[in-house]
Amino acid sequence: MQATARAQPNIALIKYWGKRDSARNLPAAGSISITLSDLHTEMCVEVDESMRDDVLIVNECEDRDMLPRVKRCLDTIVGKPRPAVRVVSRCNFPIAAGMASSASAFAALVVAADSMLGQSRDTAELAGLAGRASGSAARSLYGGFVELENCDDDIYVSQLLRSDEWPLRVVVAITTPGPKPLGSSDAMEISRRTSPFYNRWIERQSADLDEARTAIANRDFAKLGSVAEHNCLKMHSVMWGSRPPVIYWHSATLACMQTVRDLQSEGVGVFFTIDAGPQVKAICLPEEEARVRAALADTTGVSDIMVSGLGARARLVLR
Ligand code: PMV
Repeated sequence: MQATARAQPNIALIKYWGKRDSARNLPAAGSISITLSDLHTEMCVEVDESMRDDVLIVNECEDRDMLPRVKRCLDTIVGKPRPAVRVVSRCNFPIAAGMASSASAFAALVVAADSMLGQSRDTAELAGLAGRASGSAARSLYGGFVELENCDDDIYVSQLLRSDEWPLRVVVAITTPGPKPLGSSDAMEISRRTSPFYNRWIERQSADLDEARTAIANRDFAKLGSVAEHNCLKMHSVMWGSRPPVIYWHSATLACMQTVRDLQSEGVGVFFTIDAGPQVKAICLPEEEARVRAALADTTGVSDIMVSGLGARARLVLR
């Protein structure tokens, strides 16, 4: 029994930062994201009767750190007791560095594990299960522009626009490829407990979500950029106001933000967003991609550039 699925990471434009229920990994507020096309994780899940315990191989190396989360996710998808499973993951971009690698990994894992046993849960159910493992993973079950809403006792994820309905481009400036110092779940908890800005951040999310949803419906790039940058800077202000502070930025992160602001002042259609890591994602109109890419590549401290369009939902590639 074996199945392979592929999923792309997503970049939040209206961010998720904080949980209302840590045990069930339910977010404190909704979020809106774009699913990428050119970055991906491929997960092969296989029952191996000869093994006594699960094994996780990531990019050819055994990964024991991530294994407990993968095991918990498999338990919810496959059920318990269950046979030992070999999970082989391949990712074509930096892992655990603020590039949403857990989103694509868990989205691919739920699709592959569901299919391996011949189950066929619908996308909404798979999104709910992926969200238990990684809040942002729920959004990678859908392509294009995606909204995650909080409902009574769960989450509800839906597509706002397909990728071809507004084909924006994303230029990712890699400033430090290594893993981040603090995982997002621990960092969110520090923010919830200690940041004086946390409650206000959560209260204001629905206004930002409304503004972004309207901007997306109207394909209003300037309005989307304005609310997305505002939301990103607020999330990082919550982190900076935590004790101990949660600071993911490096000097190169600030240099990239300045590059984007300089481009904006020259009239270029681009805006930035930054997640739990030092990399800067510049979202731009297709005709601006070459200029944005060249400017970020030329920014001090940038070690690599990755470019992507908007892509499709997580899907099965082999069974
Ligand atoms: O899904 P997690 O636990 O990796 O948290 C994601 C947090 C951010 O990337 C910073 C924001 C988001 O909405 O993706």
